[in-house]
Amino acid sequence: MGEATGRQYASKWVKTAALLSHPAIAPHIPPTRMYNESNLKSMLAIHGMVVIKPVRGAGGHGVIKVSKQDGRYAVSHYHDRRFYDTFGAMTAALTRMKRKRPYLIQKGIQLATISGRPIDYRVKYVKEGTGWSCRAMVGRLAKEGLFVTNLCRGGTQMPAAEGIRRSLTTAMVKSKKREMRKLTSLSTQVLETRLPGIGQLGFDYGLDKHGKIWIFEVNTRPQ
Ligand SMILES: Nc1ncnc2c1ncn2[C@@H]1O[C@H](COP(=O)(O)OP(=O)(O)O)[C@@H](O)[C@H]1O
Ligand SMILES: [Mg+2]
Repeated sequence: MGEATGRQYASKWVKTAALLSHPAIAPHIPPTRMYNESNLKSMLAIHGMVVIKPVRGAGGHGVIKVSKQDGRYAVSHYHDRRFYDTFGAMTAALTRMKRKRPYLIQKGIQLATISGRPIDYRVKYVKEGTGWSCRAMVGRLAKEGLFVTNLCRGGTQMPAAEGIRRSLTTAMVKSKKREMRKLTSLSTQVLETRLPGIGQLGFDYGLDKHGKIWIFEVNTRPQ
């Protein structure tokens, strides 16, 4: 199948639900719910930090981080970081930022960092004939001051091995790369049965401070 072909499935909710159906993949998906104020309240109470993102989004556009610290709420959106004293004031601000688009809420993962900047990983997987192969595995380091790592938001690319070594340990390089490849292959099997016609996939993986792997999203027409 050619580079630009393959169907696109935009809904992060549909793709996340598909992956959650597999017992070996589900532990790698951050708890996720549809956005509404009661889900936000309970997820903040449980996780302390959440990321809210458009159900049909790309390029880190409109992705917002909310955390509860010392009874206040901190909201990060692009380069902007603001504090709100009440839940009501915070959600009023979110309502303006969301601009009526459907959003989902995800547990915020404390990513491993390099010089304080979060790093995550993109694995590109391409179908050739009937089999799939891994085309690239790269680290993406967030631009200073941002929590999103997207290259179009100023993120910097580096080899995955370098990213793992500098943000975690040299000892984790081989095992984490292998684990990401295994999760990619298993997730692709699951997605292929649910989303017919896919031909290339871009997996966004986070490695948290303990090295645990999290799947943030799967793109069906990766850049
Ligand atoms: N649950 C999360 N915890 C921490 N950071 C996240 C989380 N979800 C997304 N991010 C950050 O935001 C970026 C964009 O989110 P992503 O789900 O990939 O949406 P997009 O389609 O906009 O790329 C990710 O690459 C990652 O840096
Ligand atoms: Mg992404």
